This record gives sequence, structure tokens and C-alpha cells, in this order.
Amino acid sequence: MQAENAQKLKKLVEVRGLGKMFTLHNQGGIRLPVLRVIDFDAARGECLVLSGPSGTGKSTLLRCLYANYLATEGSIRLRDTSADGEPWIELTNAPEQRVLKLRRDVIGYVSQFLRAIPRVSALDVVADPLQQRGASHEEARARAEVLLARLNLPRRLWDLPPATFSGGEQQRVNIARGLIGGHPILLLDEPTASLDADNRAVVIALIREALAEGRALIGIFHDDAVRDAVATRLLPLQPATALA
Ligand SMILES: Nc1ncnc2c1ncn2[C@@H]1O[C@H](COP(=O)(O)OP(=O)(O)OP(=O)(O)O)[C@@H](O)[C@H]1O
Ligand SMILES: [Mg+2]
Repeated sequence: MQAENAQKLKKLVEVRGLGKMFTLHNQGGIRLPVLRVIDFDAARGECLVLSGPSGTGKSTLLRCLYANYLATEGSIRLRDTSADGEPWIELTNAPEQRVLKLRRDVIGYVSQFLRAIPRVSALDVVADPLQQRGASHEEARARAEVLLARLNLPRRLWDLPPATFSGGEQQRVNIARGLIGGHPILLLDEPTASLDADNRAVVIALIREALAEGRALIGIFHDDAVRDAVATRLLPLQPATALA
């Protein structure tokens, strides 16, 4: 039991002195500070919720954690539980191949909007991350079916490409795709923004299950009820200019 608790408390993310400044090259090189000296950790079983007004850099922070954006300063370290050697990886200077491997095995990201791939069915869009981790096609599709059924995506849509789906249908495909891989670290950018109350409740349940499995979640939730239902800790962000 104690060993289990220790496992659950294990730190997976360590961020120190993180800063992000955008330089607008086509606007005469204007520099836009967004994130300043951000420090936090996230451990197994934690759901850290980024809060703060629009424009304070919540989505920017998630993109830095997924290495979509390069941090301007500071350190982002992720624990690669699948690594044979040194488990802590410094993301800010990791080579591209290492970043791709981390995205396959360690860190998942549910962006606010689904980037639909033409001609690929919803079921295969969802199954893909699990297949990339070595599961068979059948196994991955079976798991995708379970998730899509729980998220109430009508069966008639499963074999169709999601490009023409409604906003809420696409969002549910996106959530299923984010959850299926079982990544120990999961980033969520407003995953319930286009969902009705019933489906929001399903997402809350899925998030709680992910936490119980010992995954670490870092998310943005504009819906206060969803945030209160899943957050174990808040990370308030302030406008960076206010610190200048
Ligand atoms: N690629 C970019 N180039 C230039 N500026 C950017 C870029 N991405 C974000 N920004 C700026 O960074 C600031 C923070 O944006 P971000 O999207 O992170 O805010 P947010 O807290 O997620 O807001 P919201 O709650 O509205 O989603 C904004 O002023 C935005 O214009
Ligand atoms: Mg945002």
C-alpha cells in the first residue's frame, strides 16, 4: 500500500523559471512577453489546472510543455518512465527525435480543435496513438470503440472521417485520441468547451479514471464545474507585463 502511494506521488514534470517571449518579426521585431518565471511540479495522480484571464498564456504554457513552442528561458523536465537510462529529459534542448519519442510514449496533448486527417475514419484517428505504441490494429480499434461508445459518439459516425463532424463530435474524437495512448503525462486545452452536460460528465469520469491510474494531468477548463470536479491544484497565471 505504501509503495503504491509512493508510486502515485512520483513527480513526472518539473518546470523551473520558464519564460516565453514572442518576437513578432513581421511587426518590426516587437517583443511580447507572455510567460515569466513559471515554477511548478506535477506528480502522478495530480490534475494541475491552469487558471487566469484570457491572454495570460495558458495555452502557450501547454504548447511549451509539448515542445510546440520553444521556451525562451528556464527548464522543462519530463520523466520518461519508459527510458532505460536517465529518466529525466530536458525538453528545452531535446533533439527532435527525442521529442517525437516523448510524444509517442510519455506526453499526450488534447488540443482544443481536432486536426482531422482526410479520409481517415474516426475510429482509426482514435486508435492511431495506441497502435504507434505497439498495440495491434484490432486491439487499438477495440479500445477506440470502447472510448467512442462511452463518449456517446453515434456508431454511424465511427467509419467516417471527422472533418465534417460537429464541434462537439470532433472534440469527443479528440479526447478519445488523447486518452487512448495511456501517456503518463496528459495536457488538456479546454477539452469540454463544446460539450453538453451529459458528455461533460463523461469527460469528468474519464479524467478521474486517468488520475486513479496514476497519470499526471495539466489542463485548462473554462467551465468552473468541470474544473472543481477534477482539479487537485490550481496554477494561477498573471499577465506577464504586470511583472515588468
Ligand atoms: N504564435 C504566437 N505568436 C505571437 N503571439 C502569440 C502566439 N501565441 C500566443 N501569442 C500571444 O500570447 C498571449 C497568450 O496567448 P494564449 O493563447 O496562451 O492565452 P490563453 O491564456 O490561452 O487565453 P485564452 O483563455 O483566451 O485561451 C496572447 O497575447 C497571444 O496573442
Ligand atoms: Mg487558450
